[in-house]
Amino acid sequence: MSAPTKKRVVIRVRRFDPDTGRRWWQDYEVEVDRYQSLATVLQRIREEVDPTLAFQAGCRFGVCGACAVTVNGVPRLACQTIVWREAEENGGVITVEPLPYFPVVRDLVVDRRYVDEAFRKARAWLEPGGEPGEEGFRIRPSLQKRLWRLDKCIMCGVCFTVCPLLDAGLDYPGPAAIAKLVRFALDPRDRLGEERFREASDWLWRCLRCGLCAAHCPYSIDVPEAVAEARRRMVERGVGRSEDIRHVVAVAESVEELGRMDERRVYIRTAGVVRALREALALAGKAGIPAKPERVSKRVLEAIGA
Ligand code: SF4
Ligand code: SF4
Ligand code: FES
Repeated sequence: MSAPTKKRVVIRVRRFDPDTGRRWWQDYEVEVDRYQSLATVLQRIREEVDPTLAFQAGCRFGVCGACAVTVNGVPRLACQTIVWREAEENGGVITVEPLPYFPVVRDLVVDRRYVDEAFRKARAWLEPGGEPGEEGFRIRPSLQKRLWRLDKCIMCGVCFTVCPLLDAGLDYPGPAAIAKLVRFALDPRDRLGEERFREASDWLWRCLRCGLCAAHCPYSIDVPEAVAEARRRMVERGVGRSEDIRHVVAVAESVEELGRMDERRVYIRTAGVVRALREALALAGKAGIPAKPERVSKRVLEAIGA
């Protein structure tokens, strides 16, 4: 018996009507073939079953970034999601929701203006006017490959929805914007060059390098690796806040010397003896522990203003 070429599946869509504020789940039962993408199926539903369903897609080819939605709890591109396979793995039902994090406009359409804003924040464009080297602005193939890897972003917004820093509401432009920032800092034609790292120092040290963005990105853009490269350069060239750099060096030294991180030693080397002592005394005071200043020399107490 030949394998079936058609399958009936349920597409369960999370809907939102901005006029009434109503949210609800709606099931659409459709027949699909082995290779139909979710973008195609949603468009078919809109054209043949329910013209009120709001959903965006442009290229259907993973290029425009418009079709990003949450499929069975995972943010991804609808045009890169094969309905047959997804249905087989999920008991014949596919849940489709708008991307989280962004405000929902209607049904599956979200307002992704935050992505543009993030790129603006990170100045994600070439600032022409870098200093030409002996070979002019020649970009070697190895560097070009690295720039291409960071350049593939289609601004779909998926990585923004999984980044824990954005979820926590911290000041952070988002993974895609950080990838672009590093991409232009590495470009010899850019007037700002690595100066960008100084401006973005807080963001670059804030990234947890958890890898969630890269794992969900349709082009696997490796933001953690880009951040690691930026940090390496910042440490080597002393760019950015000196305390951040002292902290990284202190952790590396502790692991090298002891095979583990000695938090006390790392803290003292990061903050400096004076600040560490001042904070220790202040904390001891808050905790109701007698600070025993007689154990600390008068000269040190004067220096730390205790
Ligand atoms: S980095 Fe990847 S996931 Fe993030 S916006 Fe660009 S293409 Fe989408
Ligand atoms: S690696 Fe950094 S940018 Fe990517 S999701 Fe984690 S914290 Fe966000
Ligand atoms: S429709 Fe363009 S990326 Fe999916």
